[in-house]
Amino acid sequence: MNSPETVLEAKSITKSFPSPSNGSIEILKSASLEISEGESISLRGESGAGKTTFLNIMACLESPTSGSIFWDNKRVDNLSNTRQAALRSSFMGFVFQNYCLIPELNALENVELAARIAGIFNKKTPHLARALLERVGLKDRIKHLPSQLSGGEKQRVAIARAVLNSPRIILADEPTGNLDEHTASSVMAMFLKLCAERKTALMLITHNPDFAAMTSREVLLSNGEIKELRPSKA
Ligand SMILES: Nc1ncnc2c1ncn2[C@@H]1O[C@H](COP(=O)(O)OP(=O)(O)OP(=O)(O)O)[C@@H](O)[C@H]1O
Ligand SMILES: [Mg+2]
Repeated sequence: MNSPETVLEAKSITKSFPSPSNGSIEILKSASLEISEGESISLRGESGAGKTTFLNIMACLESPTSGSIFWDNKRVDNLSNTRQAALRSSFMGFVFQNYCLIPELNALENVELAARIAGIFNKKTPHLARALLERVGLKDRIKHLPSQLSGGEKQRVAIARAVLNSPRIILADEPTGNLDEHTASSVMAMFLKLCAERKTALMLITHNPDFAAMTSREVLLSNGEIKELRPSKA
């Protein structure tokens, strides 16, 4: 049997920030991670361990001090910002703790935005976006603005937007951090299901051990390195 393809690889990433008082602080010391096609990985670690920094570096939204990033086996950290942005919009989706919806756009338009940004909006897009909103239980909220939606509903719109283009991977930074426990579990279950159906890989930063247990593999960021907590179930 062929081994699954690597979707994203971070190789020996280091990251230092200048310290406001003196010198610099090395947050990532030699962080390496390989994510396979369709795999869901939870990333845990203490507050300040560098999880968000590592996620931003994997997305090429921040530069590492040293090390390299590969998307679908292509080195990308050394490309121009414009080239990275062009590749990112179809390769990757994001879900953040604070939803990051556009306040002036309704739920449907917010979901469609993923296709517009990736330059693949076509006649089928509104239909696909609408079907996804129905899937996440928002059939009756399609024309609502973000200000007219609850936190759990906003996050379901953000999830629909992240999966719309069936990206190779979704990066999620504490996506349920602002939701109550019951809403958080149902949103998480839905999110994992949508990713699994599309064979979209997922890297999930979470402080919640129950959500971490729902993913196929658990890793920990500690002392600037990635440690395997539970290898892939697959
Ligand atoms: N631009 C910056 N300049 C200086 N230090 C920074 C900068 N960005 C992050 N840091 C430091 O890097 C460390 C890691 O931050 P990061 O946001 O990655 O942590 P985290 O693991 O995501 O924490 P949390 O669980 O609280 O979200 C922190 O100590 C933070 O102060
Ligand atoms: Mg963080």
